[in-house]
Amino acid sequence: MSEAKVVDTKPVVLELEPGNYHWCACGRSAKLPFCDGSHKGTGIVPVAFELTEPKTVALCACKRTGNPPFCDGSHAKP
Ligand code: FES
Repeated sequence: MSEAKVVDTKPVVLELEPGNYHWCACGRSAKLPFCDGSHKGTGIVPVAFELTEPKTVALCACKRTGNPPFCDGSHAKP
């Protein structure tokens, strides 16, 4: 399995509408922070999540979170 690419060292904060989303776990998507299928062949798969109401979310961009797709502060740890 390939390693995930670090996209940024801080989360991507977005206001999202209710719906189903696929967070890019590989860091190769051209539509970050969402999956565009570029993970093909890496052995990494996107993380699906659903929002049932409008919500501001902080999506992990360092790819080190222990709670994907959401930021858990791991980007700030050495
Ligand atoms: Fe990265 Fe799909 S493009 S997980």
